[in-house]
Amino acid sequence: MNDNFFNFDVLVIGSGGAGLSLALKLANSHTRVAVLSKFALTSGSTYYAQGGISAVFDANDSIESHLNDTLNAGAGLCDTDIVEFTVKHGKESIDWLREQGVQFTQEQTTTGETKLHLNREGGHSHRRVVHTDDATGKAVSLSLIQRAEENPFIELFEYANVIDLITQTTNNAKRCVGAYVFNSQKQRVDSFSAKITVLATGGASKAYLYSTNPHSSTGDGMAVAWRAGCRVSNLEFMQFHPTCLYHPAGNSFLISEALRGEGGRLILPDGHAFMHHFDERGELAPRDIVARAIDHEMKKRGIDCVYLDISHKPAPFIREHFPNIYQQCLEFDIDITQQPIPVVPAAHYTCGGVITDSYARTDIENLYAVGEVACTGLHGANRMASNSLLECLVFAQRASDKIKQTLPQINSVNNIIPWDESKVGDSDEEVVVAHNWSELRHFMWDYVGIVRTDKRLDRAMNRVELLKKEITDYYQYFRVTSDLLELRNLVIVAELIIRCAKQRKESRGLHYTLDYPNMDTSRPAQNTVLIPLNY
Ligand code: FAD
Ligand code: SIN
Repeated sequence: MNDNFFNFDVLVIGSGGAGLSLALKLANSHTRVAVLSKFALTSGSTYYAQGGISAVFDANDSIESHLNDTLNAGAGLCDTDIVEFTVKHGKESIDWLREQGVQFTQEQTTTGETKLHLNREGGHSHRRVVHTDDATGKAVSLSLIQRAEENPFIELFEYANVIDLITQTTNNAKRCVGAYVFNSQKQRVDSFSAKITVLATGGASKAYLYSTNPHSSTGDGMAVAWRAGCRVSNLEFMQFHPTCLYHPAGNSFLISEALRGEGGRLILPDGHAFMHHFDERGELAPRDIVARAIDHEMKKRGIDCVYLDISHKPAPFIREHFPNIYQQCLEFDIDITQQPIPVVPAAHYTCGGVITDSYARTDIENLYAVGEVACTGLHGANRMASNSLLECLVFAQRASDKIKQTLPQINSVNNIIPWDESKVGDSDEEVVVAHNWSELRHFMWDYVGIVRTDKRLDRAMNRVELLKKEITDYYQYFRVTSDLLELRNLVIVAELIIRCAKQRKESRGLHYTLDYPNMDTSRPAQNTVLIPLNY
């Protein structure tokens, strides 16, 4: 066996909350698991999560209430069975994380007992968000990474960028047998074979100019699954988080919704609050409503940002509840105990993705998808805050149950065809990649953003077709680089987002178009489903 060929029982692509949870649930003496990460192990969105993980713990809360809030936010497109299953498994998911060593913020009750402190966020009718201060993702990531590093049955590969899945077809059934992976440190392509492959690659928010996401969110899993023959769904529902720090050096740092949960008010530059004009829930309306209201005020008044003000709360309270946000803002000379925070919306979460069943299985045999890459039916047309990490955990468990059951029946994989580089050379024009990347993110922001029209979507489609052709040509002739691979995926995902958006002739949840400003109530709500030619 040569140096750049690897064989495992399960190949997990992604080291965020979804990928690592699944790996930890699977790895034991009978199951050898590889976990790949495109960059460092902390490179996914999970590490940056702030608000927390929703689960029913409060005595006044109930599974039914969590279910109803999720369905309301999802604007008629959630799969009720999936929502019910997910929210029912909230508490055990938090318990499992605590067993892995995650320390959640606690509080003392009046009787002197300690219990989990719960945040409140938009769309939730109760305090329901378990958290570690305002840096929940960091606590979760670091614990899971530590557990995975200690586990002798898990092998972690950093800077391992999946290029494409490897599939084989027998008797008309296509099955996944692994992936080709670009090792960006050694500048070579490795082949990974596995009985089962799991996409846990996160979302696609980097298709937009402004995004809260880290660099890794380029929709790779969606693109590789589409190329391999999987259907995707509901990609028009791109969630824009209402409140990102507006500062030239701020790099779209998120200002958690939990700030509004504790009384933070959105105000205009003249100090007037405005959310009550848009929704009776004010600052705690679901995200789509808040982001659109901000976008409306910014465009109407020609202002660069609005402001989020929590300075009316006592300074010690702010510093205790939001130490990370307080410190980050202070580095930009904004003291949030004294002054309002300039904020704008930014692309945050991909509600649609690779279609999976209730066990996280995709259309291709032995290929699963878990976490933000997947479309399970939980989020419908709009994800409710803090339901995403919950989905990662619940579906990691669900996939692990099914994988453990099926693995013994799957034969070892052999006869993988090695990667062939004989027909490509080194690029002499890398500027094409940088230019096209920037162009794509600009037109996605301008034409496929918070407010859409048919005309804007047509413009975006024309441009994406041109870019796709250019990038496909380029990919054929030149050796792969990380930037080229990401751009090749982003352009596909951008096209899929636009195609989904063009199909939806109504406004629903996160998809708002001036040409059809109302929800179509004349027929049952429908998911948008795109089917690849090789399905
Ligand atoms: P990620 O955590 O994004 O991990 C993806 C992994 O896949 C990474 O390891 C990446 O390197 C790898 N990868 C990607 N492409 C490739 C490739 N081609 N080859 C190999 N590896 C690849 N949700 C909540 O529920 N609560 C919150 O409080 C919350 N706060 C958030 C705050 C911020 C700033 C952001 C950006 C998101 C937040 N979210 C929150 C959303 C949530 O964090 C994500 O949806 C969730 O963490 C996704 O987890 P994941 O495991 O699916 O993907
Ligand atoms: C936040 O803390 O506002 C982000 C929560 C989420 O995206 O679920």
